[in-house]
Amino acid sequence: MLPPIADRFVAGESIDGAVAHVRDLDDAGIASIVNLLGEHYDDPEDARADTEEYLRLLERFPDTAHPPSISVKPSQLGLNIGEDVFRDNLARIVEVAAAADTFVWIDMEGHETTDATVRAYEALAEQHDGGVGICLQANLRRTADDVTRLGDTAGKIRLVKGAYDEPESIAYRDGAAVEEAYRHLLHRLFTDTTVGIAVATHDEELIEYALDLGDQYDRDYEFQMLMGVREDRQRELAATETVYQYVPYGSAWASYFYRRIRERRENLRFALRAVVDA
Ligand code: FDA
Repeated sequence: MLPPIADRFVAGESIDGAVAHVRDLDDAGIASIVNLLGEHYDDPEDARADTEEYLRLLERFPDTAHPPSISVKPSQLGLNIGEDVFRDNLARIVEVAAAADTFVWIDMEGHETTDATVRAYEALAEQHDGGVGICLQANLRRTADDVTRLGDTAGKIRLVKGAYDEPESIAYRDGAAVEEAYRHLLHRLFTDTTVGIAVATHDEELIEYALDLGDQYDRDYEFQMLMGVREDRQRELAATETVYQYVPYGSAWASYFYRRIRERRENLRFALRAVVDA
């Protein structure tokens, strides 16, 4: 069972927990992006099992004012096994999602997966006009070229700082340089492209910058943040902006939970306090 301290960041181990969270968020004016936790599979059966689970999840999505979407990880759908395995599983999910009018996000993982992920996105975006989105990482130097390549594809681009520890030769490693790259790329998304824009950050300065760009340019954009991180700000923003919360669930919650805890010292204090108070 999910321990009480993990339920700040993870919406339970089963589809029931995810669906209940989708409903709660909907009441608060926030839409969900549901992610089944799981990654780096070497066995095609594991990738197939998660694909089937996504199909079951899509069937269970409630009819809400702010329709939920899903987000999948390439290595969860079999990219480590083969690009064809990943593409087949993803295509199955996108087909069922498109029939239900549900948007599908493709998360971005380490740099060795970027090319295959971009190729899969391009192919699917062409088939399913506007129903698929891809995550691009501001810390990667190549992302400026990826924005050029994908900027007029029918779909959406989610811009993040980047969660993977990448080498200096291909990535900005310094926090200020990543923030600068994020600003530059976000400006280009607003001014040089026609895609839907997802501003996925908890960084207040970048949120303010995006709000300024939103005032200046008549573009389709949304904010995205993680479950359990700056939830007050999410609710406040949702009064005037489109806000999505990334909602992970599933039995593989432990590594995700510890990653969120390690990111911030105050989260560690929160976790320890929960243990002490239990
Ligand atoms: P940063 O880490 O600098 O945080 C800014 C501020 O936010 C902090 O000062 C603090 O106030 C608050 N904050 C951040 N993390 C916190 C935490 N754990 N607890 C409490 N407060 C916290 N990455 C990737 O490589 N591939 C992907 O597909 C995705 N997908 C994705 C989807 C969505 C919706 C989000 C929000 C993020 C991702 N990411 C991602 C993760 C992203 O790359 C990045 O690692 C995190 O968002 C943290 O970066 P911030 O931009 O929030 O800034």
